[in-house]
Amino acid sequence: MITKHGTYIDGFAGPQEPDKPHMWAAKLVLESEPRWFRNFYLFDAGEEQVEALQKLKEAQPSDPKRTIEIIPGDFNATVLGLLSAQKIKMSEACFCLLDQRTFECRWETLVRLARYKTSGNKIELFYFLPNHWFSRALSGIKDTTRVEQWWGREDWKRLYDIDSSQRVELIVRRFKEELGYNSVKPWPIFERNDGGAIMYYMIHATDHPLAPSLMSRAYRKAVTPLEPIEQLKLDLAEFLT
Ligand SMILES: C[S@@+](CC[C@H](N)C(=O)[O-])C[C@H]1O[C@@H](n2cnc3c(N)ncnc32)[C@H](O)[C@@H]1O
Repeated sequence: MITKHGTYIDGFAGPQEPDKPHMWAAKLVLESEPRWFRNFYLFDAGEEQVEALQKLKEAQPSDPKRTIEIIPGDFNATVLGLLSAQKIKMSEACFCLLDQRTFECRWETLVRLARYKTSGNKIELFYFLPNHWFSRALSGIKDTTRVEQWWGREDWKRLYDIDSSQRVELIVRRFKEELGYNSVKPWPIFERNDGGAIMYYMIHATDHPLAPSLMSRAYRKAVTPLEPIEQLKLDLAEFLT
């Protein structure tokens, strides 16, 4: 209903678990029906992940109407090429999945994505905020410039002092106030179907008036049978088509 000719950007697109292709977001979105998306830009920094993406591309039926580009390297740098080439039209729906592990997606990259469109709805973001391993990752990090760039503000050291719920609240506020999205919602993703730790939050940022309720429906569906992460990705693919 929403995306008849859209673009899908996946900033960290390689398969997390190569032996579980049914959990691979890029594959699910590429192969979901109806095939409304026209353009796919799949980024990854890992050599093996890029190879897997190439294979995935080669396995797709040929379709002259579709563009599938695999872009190797650091997404924070390589996305600039895509944005400056102005390949994404202002009027077209554009979704961007940012499934980082921890501190890979720099704040300035979010700013660039959010400011790309000068009219219409901004690029819709699906941003993975790590949760369960966040404090451990933060205290273990040697090169703190990574955290600084991830946070993108001088007050990054406050991350040491706030708890998980304050962190989520703050990020949601920043997506609204600094990136300017109309709707920003954090969706907790649990370790197991019957609960357990919150592994991460998927922050869904959109200007589209219908998108929050569609996401809410997809999320409610996800909290049933399969493993939650698996189901969420399935529903995310459905939501995007
Ligand atoms: C959590 S995994 C992505 C999982 C994937 N979305 C899925 O559905 O299975 C994160 C990916 O980011 C890649 N990566 C790490 N740092 C990166 C960077 N700076 N730029 C682009 N990709 C990066 C890794 O190689 C890995 O494939």
